[in-house]
Amino acid sequence: MSMWWFITTFAITSFICNSPAYAYDNNPLQDICVAVNDSQASVFVNGKICKDPKLATANDFYFSGHNVSGDVVPGLGFVSTLVDVNKMPGLNTLGMFFGRTELEPQRLAPLHMHPRATELITVLKGTLYIGFLVPDAANFFKSRLFSKILNTGDVFVIPKGLIHIQYNMGNKKATYLSFFNSQNPGFVIIANSIFASNPPISDDVLAKGFQLNKTEIAVLRKKFS
Ligand SMILES: *[C@@H]1O[C@H](CO)[C@@H](O)[C@H](O)[C@H]1NC(C)=O
Ligand SMILES: *[C@@H]1O[C@H](CO)[C@@H](O)[C@H](O)[C@H]1NC(C)=O
Ligand SMILES: *[C@@H]1O[C@H](CO)[C@@H](O)[C@H](O)[C@H]1NC(C)=O
Repeated sequence: MSMWWFITTFAITSFICNSPAYAYDNNPLQDICVAVNDSQASVFVNGKICKDPKLATANDFYFSGHNVSGDVVPGLGFVSTLVDVNKMPGLNTLGMFFGRTELEPQRLAPLHMHPRATELITVLKGTLYIGFLVPDAANFFKSRLFSKILNTGDVFVIPKGLIHIQYNMGNKKATYLSFFNSQNPGFVIIANSIFASNPPISDDVLAKGFQLNKTEIAVLRKKFS
């Protein structure tokens, strides 16, 4: 009897464990995906359409240029040279994206998050104050900050989807490499996303959302637009 029970349980468990689980969708590679109402529409893949493998070359898997500084964004004091599938076609479907960022002294990469990727950061040069915010499970009106000061050779990981800080607290330029575990990590710059939307979010909503008055909201809109 107990043997029979064991075999039955084992069979059911094996069946469940070996069945493909479709409990959730794969990660989308875009921020929104509006369905087209066209029965003739062709199939879209989660990435770019593939080249015939016979035509691939080593250069498809190569990028050169992270040995040189980019042009700093005026006013912001930072530059990111990002390498995506358009710059390195071999990255397609590999779930990776990377970049090199330089921050002028006392400059901040605008507070942001990547909805689809974890980011691993290696500091090549300089002193970087880095951190991310985790919602506090005990009180959703608060968050926990995990932060470190990094120097050359230090590595830090920012979990997927969390708001993070990258600030050059030194008095020399800071340079770091970022690796993302998505082909299209997505960049949501918090302040711009909220204050520079098109069409704009109504003043009323923003004033209530941030407990400010409309004059203050106008100032913020101007700064981030
Ligand atoms: C989608 O297309 C079909 C056929 O062209 C049409 O009957 C239907 O109303 C369309 N649906 C929407 C939501 O536009
Ligand atoms: C950067 O690397 C490329 C490719 O190896 C090379 O052609 C270029 O001269 C290098 N630039 C500098 C400034 O080192
Ligand atoms: C908005 O708030 C600022 C202070 O933060 C205050 O100086 C200003 O008078 C307020 N404006 C209005 C219209 O309430």
